[in-house]
Amino acid sequence: MRGISWQGLAVAFGALGLLTSLQTSDDDNPHARAPRGVSLVVTEGAYLRAPGADWFAERAKAEPGRFTHDATLAGGIGGWVDAKGEYWFVEMEEGEWVYNQWASPERLTAGRRDFVQFCSSCHGLEGDGYGRSAQHLRPTPRSFQQNKFKFTKVIADLPSDEALLAVIRRGLAGTPMLPWDLSDVQLLDIIQYIKSLSPEESGWRDVYSQVGDAIEVTEDPWVDIKERAIVRGREVYHGAASCHLCHPGYVTNEELRVIRKDPEGTTYRENLTYPALKDSEYEVLGRATKVMPPDFTWHQLRAGITTADLFQTIASGIKGTAMPQWKGALPDEDLWALAHYVEDLIVSYKDQRPERSAFMGGLRTSGDNR
Ligand code: HEC
Ligand code: HEC
Repeated sequence: MRGISWQGLAVAFGALGLLTSLQTSDDDNPHARAPRGVSLVVTEGAYLRAPGADWFAERAKAEPGRFTHDATLAGGIGGWVDAKGEYWFVEMEEGEWVYNQWASPERLTAGRRDFVQFCSSCHGLEGDGYGRSAQHLRPTPRSFQQNKFKFTKVIADLPSDEALLAVIRRGLAGTPMLPWDLSDVQLLDIIQYIKSLSPEESGWRDVYSQVGDAIEVTEDPWVDIKERAIVRGREVYHGAASCHLCHPGYVTNEELRVIRKDPEGTTYRENLTYPALKDSEYEVLGRATKVMPPDFTWHQLRAGITTADLFQTIASGIKGTAMPQWKGALPDEDLWALAHYVEDLIVSYKDQRPERSAFMGGLRTSGDNR
């Protein structure tokens, strides 16, 4: 035993103990651990905005087992407690009903754990959109401190949990944002955590924010007359709606002049058959980034390509970008016609190389287009 003191042995056993405890902990996969110095524990819960009265009523009806009415909460005005001890309640704020949710520290901790594991490499450990892998990505990963979302198809200021869940499950085709197949429980915990990252008095922490579901899919008036919808869509696209100011025009200058009933000799933007790069409100480290409107014959769309998806995307527009909300600006009939037209461009030309070359090449060699 000479040379090894009892103290030394104790240290050696201590180190061994530490090693075994690391190896046998829940987090024996190194990727499941947060980087050194980053705490996974959220100590404070958060009051967050919830969707309005209809949503409350629907949830209470749909999940009677999950919600129990408890008039003692929130000064007796009303609320529901679910199995996890989360609660939703209504209160009066300057003469307006405000719908709230309380997310507990335990739930936010669960959400943060999975967020750090699955999302932070791009979205940043603190959700600022500037994770390690984000630095050169375009489009940039969303900052959850900005409270703006592009593809949730929601007209209200903020998307409901369901609208966010749909986007995260579908993923954003053509970007590094994958379709996530985690359980509903995991994703909803992550979503509560994301919402809690709203800076004070903004986003889900602003009493004046409105939270809404994806825009309603109205009845498609063109189901049996798609060919007519496509003709009408092409006309609205290049006419009343001027989609070609940002997205490519899919006509020659001459055809555009006829559709728009412009006088002979009218000229249009250069490179009419290419998309035009646009400013956006999405920031990286406080600086706004630009975004490219897609060419429907070339790019993958992120918000889905069924007629109904396209109707919803066009109707709701894309928040924080140049893409306007068209619901209300155009009649639903025309929104549906546009959806059919865009769908037809995708089906006829996207990934159909010879057809696309012939179509776009034809437009580009005529007139003053490249
Ligand atoms: C490999 C990088 C990467 C990872 C990992 C990642 N994302 Fe994303 N995410 C992105 C990018 C890039 C965008 C923005 C795409 C765009 O604007 O077109 C985005 C956008 C989003 C949006 C905004 C959608 C909208 O409508 O504006 C949400 C919400 C989101 N991600 C959630 C998540 C969640 C939750 C996880 C983890 C389960 C995750 N992301 C993991 C790259 C990533
Ligand atoms: C003032 C510019 C502008 C106009 C006008 C415009 N858009 Fe857009 N649009 C954009 C931008 C920018 C994006 C992409 C936003 C992004 O990537 O962040 C976009 C995205 C889209 C998308 C979604 C793409 C996806 O990935 O799912 C569709 C569909 C679309 N536009 C259709 C239309 C139609 C149809 C019209 C005319 C009714 C139109 N846009 C008019 C700028 C515009």
